[in-house]
Amino acid sequence: MSQAVESRGVSVRVPGKINLELVVGPLRDDGYHELATVFHAVGIYDHITVTPADRWSVQVTGPTAAGVPTGPGNLALKAAKALARRYGIEGAVALSIEKNIPVSGGMAGGSADAAGALVACESLWGLQLSRDELEPLAATLGSDVPFLLHGGTAVGSGRGERLAPVLSRGELQWVLWVSNDSGLSTPAVYAECDRLREAAGEQVVEPTPSGDLIGALRTMDTEAVGATLRNDLQGAACSLYPVLDEVLEAGLTLGAHGAVVSGSGPTVAFLVSTQAAAIDLSVGLAARGPAGDIRRTTGPVAGAQVVQHVGPT
Ligand code: C5P
Repeated sequence: MSQAVESRGVSVRVPGKINLELVVGPLRDDGYHELATVFHAVGIYDHITVTPADRWSVQVTGPTAAGVPTGPGNLALKAAKALARRYGIEGAVALSIEKNIPVSGGMAGGSADAAGALVACESLWGLQLSRDELEPLAATLGSDVPFLLHGGTAVGSGRGERLAPVLSRGELQWVLWVSNDSGLSTPAVYAECDRLREAAGEQVVEPTPSGDLIGALRTMDTEAVGATLRNDLQGAACSLYPVLDEVLEAGLTLGAHGAVVSGSGPTVAFLVSTQAAAIDLSVGLAARGPAGDIRRTTGPVAGAQVVQHVGPT
């Protein structure tokens, strides 16, 4: 029996993501949009702990716990149950989630918890599965879940679930503006994007990632990365959440090399070149920007990782 199976519980930490590029293609017959995106995992983490239990349960704590479902709709719980079903595991787990990733913020917080639950349960049950082997099940839970199994920086295609790693060296310094009131619904933002495109008579073509961004990431040229940040959902997010225009403008005026709404928003990511510049920008945004939580972080970071086996008590 492996050490993981003998131990009472497993804790995993899993990061949130931002999208350095999000090119939205046509709406598919299954209701998803064809994407070309560059995912980038950043150092804001949720912690997922699973312990064997008689019945399934989920408990959510932490600074961003408000509004996370604790019933059957919780995505981490769905992930754990799906893995158990797939591999014939009998018995249940109690999930404990400590949330730091913004909820409905465009940083894939729910998907991160699902990826974390898969990795934690895989270890707890001693299934000996690689991340690649977990990917197909992860993709059934959400388009961003496979990426959070791996982390780093990766190009996502299809609906975001098909991944190819991007080579980069060093790290990028980010300042995040996080809404401290309600978030945005991802389907609503995609629908608004379709509506705006139709109203503008825009021709929607097959999405392709920009070679310029990939090249800039390879050399970690911060100014070039900043200049190539792009999100096709940004207009839709700003249309539904107009204060984002002011947030973007404030950060750029304060000297960020680039600014982009992450995913379907409303989190905004600003790129700077040094830790000192990140501190300056966060102080300036807190003083002069629209109200929000300001966080400093770096990327890329690894995806879901086991951090602790909690022994028998
Ligand atoms: O896959 P996930 O559950 O995260 O997607 C949430 C919603 O976001 C989908 O139901 C769909 O409305 C929208 N979406 C999309 N195209 C994608 C990914 C998500 O339209 N590629």
